[in-house]
Amino acid sequence: MQTSTVNSLLAAIADVGRDQKRGGYSRAVYSDAELSLREWFIAEATTRGLEVSTDANGIIWAWWDLPGATDVAASRRGALVTGSHLDSVPGGGAFDGPLGVASSLAAYDVLAAREASGALLRNRAMAISVFPEEEGSRFGVACLGSRLLTGAIDPVRALNLRDAAGNTFADVAKANGMDPAGFGRDESTLGLIGDFIELHVEQGKGLNSEAFTDAAGRGPALAVGDTILGHGRWKLSFTGQGNHAGTTLMSDRSDPMLAAAQCVVAVRQTGAAQDNARATVGRLEPVPGGTNVIASRVDLWLDVRHPDDAITAMLVEKIHGQAQRIAALEGCSVLLTEESFSNTVHFDPALAKALSVSVRRTVADAPLLPTGAGHDAGVLASEVPTGMLYVRNPSGISHSPEEYVENDDAHAGVLALADVLEDLL
Ligand code: GLV
Ligand code: MN
Ligand code: MN
Ligand code: MN
Repeated sequence: MQTSTVNSLLAAIADVGRDQKRGGYSRAVYSDAELSLREWFIAEATTRGLEVSTDANGIIWAWWDLPGATDVAASRRGALVTGSHLDSVPGGGAFDGPLGVASSLAAYDVLAAREASGALLRNRAMAISVFPEEEGSRFGVACLGSRLLTGAIDPVRALNLRDAAGNTFADVAKANGMDPAGFGRDESTLGLIGDFIELHVEQGKGLNSEAFTDAAGRGPALAVGDTILGHGRWKLSFTGQGNHAGTTLMSDRSDPMLAAAQCVVAVRQTGAAQDNARATVGRLEPVPGGTNVIASRVDLWLDVRHPDDAITAMLVEKIHGQAQRIAALEGCSVLLTEESFSNTVHFDPALAKALSVSVRRTVADAPLLPTGAGHDAGVLASEVPTGMLYVRNPSGISHSPEEYVENDDAHAGVLALADVLEDLL
């Protein structure tokens, strides 16, 4: 029987997709790095005797069927599913996504050993799932796989999304052997998911906050997911007059870079003035992008999050108004487009309670924790009961090479996940 620790599983992929320029990992969906992680997962699952398939939306499923099931397809309906994603942000950490996938495999090993010894009797099938483009780093829409599965994005819109090189999602999907006509809400696959549990690295200072740390300043190893902040992405395109950096007088410019720069400051001020809001500009793209060229257009991507979705909408409207005033002052124009939006999610309270009880077999206590980070579990929450487990991140930093998980905490996460799954199986 194959058994691995989560640390040995992560060690095996530690060299895949390292980004020499940015540091950390760049594992964009369907890049060589992400494809090789998918192959790694399929090999690990297959070695364990799990039956692996990839659905029409590019989600990988590894099935642990019920022993002796005569109608396997029927026995998979309402299964217990756990998993996460393998893609990363540009220059991301080692754990956001892969920790959940590796922990699912390691938890399966624990459960398979319990079943082999007669200590575990299952009432339903289990699957490990791997979702593509959770980060939206390549095509701009976060949780693209789970959004397609649930119909939260129109597949026609998804197929027309473009990456930075101009490739459409449809072309990339075709190049990876998928049928663009197959994308979209998939009732039969959704019917397979009875409950979904995602284990994930904690991505902020939640578990390191004073409310939870002991006298030595150490927070608890694990937390149970409570809510996900509503969040969305918008693009603000500032258009001006492209021109020559040397021949154009300072008084004779319509420079969209100036408008974008002032907009970044306005975003910061607007976000800071609203309790519990987060407003970020992490990406700017000047066109054409030359040192001696006044840009003709600057695209600016805005990420806004707040627990009250109406306040998120109000903040975006406010920023849009500021951007229009700034653009006019600089002799430019601005166009706002929404790229994606996810409502605030309250995870299933009954499931969260059950997780809290199961987790206490491994750790003394695991607080209920809200998060500002988006997850496929949040998208799936509109369809099925979902729950999340977070593993302590001593750095409190994520979407950065400094994201971190200690070996002992990762191991506790696997044992707790195994207990949670056992109790739900
Ligand atoms: C993804 O991790 C996000 O929250 O943006
Ligand atoms: Mn993630
Ligand atoms: Mn992430
Ligand atoms: Mn995420």
